[in-house]
Amino acid sequence: MIRMFHVHKIYPNRIIALKDINIHIKKGEFVFLVGPTGAGKSTFLKLIYRGIVPTKGQVIVDGINVARLKPKYVPYLRRNIGIVFQDFKLLFNRTVYENVSFGLNAIGATNLEIRQQVKKVLNLVGLEHKKRTKPHLLSGGEQQKLCIARAIANEPMILLTDEPTGNLDPDTSWEIMQLLFHINMRGTTVIMASHDKLMVDKARKRIIRLEQGRIVEDIQKGKF
Ligand SMILES: Nc1ncnc2c1ncn2[C@@H]1O[C@H](COP(=O)(O)OP(=O)(O)OP(=O)(O)O)[C@@H](O)[C@H]1O
Ligand SMILES: [Mg+2]
Repeated sequence: MIRMFHVHKIYPNRIIALKDINIHIKKGEFVFLVGPTGAGKSTFLKLIYRGIVPTKGQVIVDGINVARLKPKYVPYLRRNIGIVFQDFKLLFNRTVYENVSFGLNAIGATNLEIRQQVKKVLNLVGLEHKKRTKPHLLSGGEQQKLCIARAIANEPMILLTDEPTGNLDPDTSWEIMQLLFHINMRGTTVIMASHDKLMVDKARKRIIRLEQGRIVEDIQKGKF
């Protein structure tokens, strides 16, 4: 599903964010991306959805070399990738329902398809009863669930999440985690960057650890 070959990312300020990354993430895997701040986790995720392009090396997503993709095809790549990032903000002047339907409108789904799909994902994350609410009236955990609902609305093959439990209490974090496991069990490949040591330990999934732009560890069911 995702392969990287000798990937380097050097930002214009000459900061080397990733060095010689080689990785294979298979369809249906659940992967934690861990490591200290500045290690390159967000950079790694951005390469997958082509938020940025590698300075050197290849990033292959579902058989496509994403660095070579012409700009007009980037939206097609992104249709297959759900993204839960801090910089992908909710629309605070729209309802919960509209936040999810927005992206589906953009890809030309019919009204019936949109209604059914929004209902399905809001049910999945447990926010159906809040569909008419505006996001600022939701708790932090509920907002994060809404971000997840929006990201999975068009049933992407891959879900990328950057610190999805960042500011949440342990119980809510674990609830979000369960939700991501559930989405993973439905067949979506999930990659999650996280600082949350306790949770990563508890989850017993594959852990890729980055330090100073290099992969220093890649273990199955490991400890943080
Ligand atoms: N747009 C950018 N321009 C220049 N340098 C950047 C840019 N984005 C990230 N960096 C630098 O690249 C390195 C890796 O950053 P990255 O955001 O990938 O780390 P991270 O592991 O996600 O850290 P955190 O845990 O704090 O989110 C850091 O040194 C960072 O300062
Ligand atoms: Mg980051």
